[in-house]
Amino acid sequence: MDAAKAMRVEYERPDIKADEINPFLSDLGLGKKCKIACVPTTSGTGAEATFCVVLSDTADQRKLSLINREIVPDIAIVDPACAASMPPSITSSTGIDALTHAVEGFTSTWKNDFTDGICLKAIQLVFQYLPRAVKDGSDMEAREKMANAATLAGIGFINSLAALAHATGHALGGVFHTPHGRAVGLFLPYTIEFIGDVREDLWAEIVRFLNIDVPKGKKASAVLAEAIRDLAKNINEPLSIKELNIPKDKFDAAMEKLVDNVMADGTIIVTARIPSFAEAAKFLQYAYEGKSIDF
Ligand SMILES: [Fe+2]
Repeated sequence: MDAAKAMRVEYERPDIKADEINPFLSDLGLGKKCKIACVPTTSGTGAEATFCVVLSDTADQRKLSLINREIVPDIAIVDPACAASMPPSITSSTGIDALTHAVEGFTSTWKNDFTDGICLKAIQLVFQYLPRAVKDGSDMEAREKMANAATLAGIGFINSLAALAHATGHALGGVFHTPHGRAVGLFLPYTIEFIGDVREDLWAEIVRFLNIDVPKGKKASAVLAEAIRDLAKNINEPLSIKELNIPKDKFDAAMEKLVDNVMADGTIIVTARIPSFAEAAKFLQYAYEGKSIDF
């Protein structure tokens, strides 16, 4: 869907290359030569409902997050039957992308009243139905709820943007080709821990909405991070970069590139606590080892 959205721009506006798509291009005049209808066959990216395109720059080993309001698809056809044949590992990695959109969309600095409710509902749907969809792909109620969750999360996060889990996920995926949802989902609990107190009230709101108690003396950020790690374990998603079988020497050798990619990612600007270069490197090391963030 992202590729189609980019190709459509190049088709209708041959003077604009896909990697030049940015928020400041106005009056693209799209829709004169074609319309675009997106039909998702996974339940996660929400790309059918967003005005974002993520492209891989293979030469520069990075992912480009490109945004322009005029590139939103004209039509989205969200039919759970189209996603019914997804194998469990794609169901889980794409599903956790939807969760990451919703959590980041609910807590970014661009969060707003129009996206809050949508994001909360999407979070709830993923917690309730993703394990079912992974366990039994023929469970059409779970498939439908996940299809809805993904589109809702797409509508939510595109209007408030994603944050650090996406910046780090894009960075890792650009260098090591980890599937998008798996990468951002892996970084989500670390992101919640890193942002921590800055958004404590919002972590508490999410946890309350999920009917999860916060024990006395514990922070809502820690409780939510733990709940997401439990969910990830339950659906066989990795909790650390090490579990992706990326050798430590290769990871260390790529560190400078990874940190540069994180800090240059468009989503970093709306992160409620923006890391320094040194913090980004430490964050990635902790995520490699599976250590909870304590700085
Ligand atoms: Fe995503």
